[in-house]
Amino acid sequence: MKVLIIYSHPSPDSYTFEILQRLKSALSKEQIEFEVSDLYAMNFQTDMSEEEYQREGFANLKLAIPDDVLAEHRKMEAADCIIFIYPVWWSDCPAKLKGWFDRVYSVGYAYGYEASSEITKMKPIQYGLVICTAGHPNEFLKEIGIAESMRNVMIDDRLGKRFKNKEMLILGGTLDKEKVRPIHHHMIDSIGSKIKEYCTS
Ligand SMILES: Cc1cc2nc3c(=O)[nH]c(=O)nc-3n(C[C@H](O)[C@H](O)[C@H](O)COP(=O)(O)O)c2cc1C
Repeated sequence: MKVLIIYSHPSPDSYTFEILQRLKSALSKEQIEFEVSDLYAMNFQTDMSEEEYQREGFANLKLAIPDDVLAEHRKMEAADCIIFIYPVWWSDCPAKLKGWFDRVYSVGYAYGYEASSEITKMKPIQYGLVICTAGHPNEFLKEIGIAESMRNVMIDDRLGKRFKNKEMLILGGTLDKEKVRPIHHHMIDSIGSKIKEYCTS
């Protein structure tokens, strides 16, 4: 059983980094193997080049997929569970992660599969988990409809049918960290057993 964590935050001084560390130790305690794609630390390219657009925009499956994107595909193929961790910035993920989806969800792999092409279709992932930290409390994000829109975009569209089981944890209220930290840590600590439940059946 293997977990791939796609992590998107520029600073180790952040609350989001603290959540990543907590998750890593929770997984280690459960003896669950994991790998992290730390997008800022990797300096992952998130702008789509003109050359890539010629492939993605026109579904030209004969054009090559860049090596850094293929490396992400290989990590995904080795994973039973993928966890996305990021802060909510302007009601969505940081541009760094949005660019990961733009480039890594290659046509012919994550969608638009053609049996005649040489590209292997993305394998179905057992469990997809989205963890985002947010300044606003969850109640407020629900009240203004943003919790629902973030869920629609991340869970229904970006994870979509590619994942068999999907969940989103909005760790809101981080303006008052002392208040929310114990609740958030408790949520993170239970993730290992959920992964085992979804990925060993
Ligand atoms: C550029 C930027 C945009 C943000 N936009 C939102 C937002 O739309 N909604 C929200 O609840 N919090 C927003 N926040 C607050 C972050 O989600 C909050 O600080 C988060 O918990 C990350 O904390 P960290 O940077 O210490 O990890 C924003 C923060 C930044 C820096």
